[in-house]
Amino acid sequence: MPATPIIAPFPATRLRRLRRTPALRALTAEHSLSAANLIWPIFVTEVAGAEGEIASMPGVDRLTLDGAKRAAERAMELGIPAICIFPHSDPDLKTEGCERAWDENNIGNRAIRAIKQAAPDLAVMTDIALDPYNINGHDGFVRDGIILNDETVEALVRMALAQAEAGADILGPSDMMDGRIGALRAALERAGHKDVAILSYAAKFASDFYGPFRDAVGASGRLVGDKKTYQINPANRDEALRCVARDLAEGADMVMVKPGMPYLDVCREVKDRFGAPTYAYQVSGEYAMIEGAIRQGWLKRDVVLESLLSFRRAGCDGILTYYAPQAAEALARG
Ligand code: PBG
Repeated sequence: MPATPIIAPFPATRLRRLRRTPALRALTAEHSLSAANLIWPIFVTEVAGAEGEIASMPGVDRLTLDGAKRAAERAMELGIPAICIFPHSDPDLKTEGCERAWDENNIGNRAIRAIKQAAPDLAVMTDIALDPYNINGHDGFVRDGIILNDETVEALVRMALAQAEAGADILGPSDMMDGRIGALRAALERAGHKDVAILSYAAKFASDFYGPFRDAVGASGRLVGDKKTYQINPANRDEALRCVARDLAEGADMVMVKPGMPYLDVCREVKDRFGAPTYAYQVSGEYAMIEGAIRQGWLKRDVVLESLLSFRRAGCDGILTYYAPQAAEALARG
């Protein structure tokens, strides 16, 4: 925005002139969306029979390892640069100690290796948090009802190193513990993984829009209490900005705002203030709202691309979205 916008009075200025034809509209489009802006989150299960559609996310499947490989190949064909893996782990193997979180053969790490083999040029992103392996469904260790910060950070470091070892390109700490970015960055450096990037879930709010995701990864029935002692209060914008500043200062390469559409004000502010690579997560509940309305016939499917363009307009470099393959296909069709 120029400091002093010059607008001649009507009729010298008729803003409709430049909206008259498709050519003029194309010429004056301020923002654009392409497949290169998308990160595709997928759910990978190790539980026999759990593959298939997620009830609260119609159109999104839990995948087997083979399904994940096919998704990776599809992402490459569509020009989607990155895929993000979320494990659906065996519920019988979840523990209070979350030991499987840093097992080199957990389902998340197997998926990293399988995808890297199938599509070596695709960037593989991970999720770092203990919830897939935690019997309590929390992102951190729980003792006497309290989520432990520093002990959790040590476990997250082990988890991150196992993911880096398996070949991850981008690590996505989504846990919201304090001090984790600095600890991860230092540990990666020490272990020789100096080029593994960190996309911090820096401004992650305590949101009910995550409901369908917790169904997808099998965490909903288990979560004891809520995540309000570590995720940000949806009322707080300044605090979100401080979280982003802190994570960048600790060595995050990229930052995320999550959820997306209800928090576009935060996206804009983060981009303007820090100028860092900025991503938004259009989360499971946003997907469910849009897809539900489309399937009811209440909205046209074109709202998908409009919703994604809104993130670009708000300053985001990219978007994590379950719509990634569908959107890339629609963009390719033009
Ligand atoms: C948990 C995690 C969550 C999501 C990504 N990582 C859920 C939560 O914090 O409870 C949500 C993604 C979505 O809703 O699509 N570490």
